[in-house]
Amino acid sequence: MTRVAILISGGGSNMLALVGDMRQGGYAEPVLVAANDPLAGGLAKAAALGIPTAAVDHRPFGRDREGFEAALAAHIDAAKPDILCLAGFMRILTPGFIARYQGRMLNIHPSLLPKYPGLHTHARALAAGDSHAGCTVHEVTADLDAGPILGQARVPILPGDTEATLATRVLEEEHRLYPAVLRRFVQGDRTPVYLD
Ligand code: GAR
Repeated sequence: MTRVAILISGGGSNMLALVGDMRQGGYAEPVLVAANDPLAGGLAKAAALGIPTAAVDHRPFGRDREGFEAALAAHIDAAKPDILCLAGFMRILTPGFIARYQGRMLNIHPSLLPKYPGLHTHARALAAGDSHAGCTVHEVTADLDAGPILGQARVPILPGDTEATLATRVLEEEHRLYPAVLRRFVQGDRTPVYLD
C-alpha cells in the first residue's frame, strides 16, 4: 500500500480530505501528519483518526532552516512515506529538503498558478478584477509554487466577494481537487486534471 505523509501548519482541512479519501478508496495509507507548529489544529484531528503525528516547532531553530528540516525529516523518514503531501504547510523549504523528496512531494496552493504564487492570493485575484480564482496542486520543486501542475479547480468570482468568502469557496474546491490528484498520482498518472 502506498504510504503518504502529510505536512500541515494549521487547521488541516485539506489533510482531513486526503485522509478521508485514502481510507474510502483504499488506495493509500496516511502514515504521518507532521506540523511545524505544536498547536496546529490538524494535529489533534489526525490523532483522533488514529494517525501518528509529530510536531517540530520551527521557532527555536531561528534562522537555522537546515536544522529545523533535519528534525522534521527524521520524523518523516521514520514513517517511510512514498509520497509527501504539503497541505497548508506554511514554511519555505530549502533546496536540500526539496531534493530529498523531489518527484514525490505535492503541494496545494490557493490560486490558479502560475498566477499569484506566495501569499494573499485571494486578495490579489480580487484586486486584479479576475473573473475566476481557484486552486492548484503541483509537484514541489526548488522554484516556489512553480513545479509541474498536476491539477486545478476554478471558482468564479462573484459580485460582492471578499477575501473571506472567496477563500471559503476555493477551500471547498481544494477538498475535491487534492484527493483527485493524489489518487491519480498514486497510480503514476501525472497528467493534469482540471475540475470545474
Ligand atoms: C489552504 O487554503 C491551502 O491552499 C493554503 O493554506 C490553507 C490551509 O488550510 N496553502 C497555502 O497557502 C500554501 N502556500 P487547511 O489547513 O484547512 O488545509
